[in-house]
Amino acid sequence: MHVINVRPETAEDIRAIDVVHISAFGGEAEARLVSALRESTTYNRELSLVAELGGRIVGHALLTRVPMRKDGTEKNVLALGPMSVVPSQSHRGIGSELINASISLAKEKGYGTIVVMGHPEYYKRFGFVPAKDLQVSCNLPAPEDALTVRELVDGSLAGGGHVEYPEAFIELY
Ligand SMILES: CC(C)(COP(=O)(O)OP(=O)(O)OC[C@H]1O[C@@H](n2cnc3c(N)ncnc32)[C@H](O)[C@@H]1OP(=O)(O)O)[C@@H](O)C(=O)NCCC(=O)NCCS
Repeated sequence: MHVINVRPETAEDIRAIDVVHISAFGGEAEARLVSALRESTTYNRELSLVAELGGRIVGHALLTRVPMRKDGTEKNVLALGPMSVVPSQSHRGIGSELINASISLAKEKGYGTIVVMGHPEYYKRFGFVPAKDLQVSCNLPAPEDALTVRELVDGSLAGGGHVEYPEAFIELY
């Protein structure tokens, strides 16, 4: 049986990452978003994780540094997404491995918070809670209930704030 290996992306993985998102989401929007983010100054290849199974890329999760503003102050948090696993390999724990690895990586890099837009029921099991419970909102035109957050450092979200995703994310909605 092959073991899942989660590691940061390399330049050779770019096409395979596109294929993962296109097959998992059934369209090109998320792959285009990743390509657009890759061109931006906030892109950090170390925060882009691929899941490899038997030498093949079967999943991808991206963390992007985004500002969270509150009363004239600003701090950086990490936004998780897009994240997906190829349909032929879903329900095998690969998504969970990618999320747990993203959480560990974010902690290692010294971030206090991860935010994620989408499937709140899925992310709950990884300790994500509704953003509105912690007075956190964001600029994406999506239902407020779909935004969840996870503090990596206790109190990092004290007082809440407004997360400002880059334009490329807004275009996805
Ligand atoms: C969501 C996704 C990443 C899960 O990957 P995965 O490798 O299958 O995840 P895991 O094996 O770790 O966990 C599977 C469990 O997640 C849960 N789950 C999967 N999709 C879910 C969803 N949309 N909402 C709530 N729970 C979900 C199920 O409980 C499932 O359990 P099961 O295997 O007993 O049915 C994958 O299905 C995917 O790529 N979907 C399409 C793209 C997408 O929606 N990405 C997330 C955007 S927020």
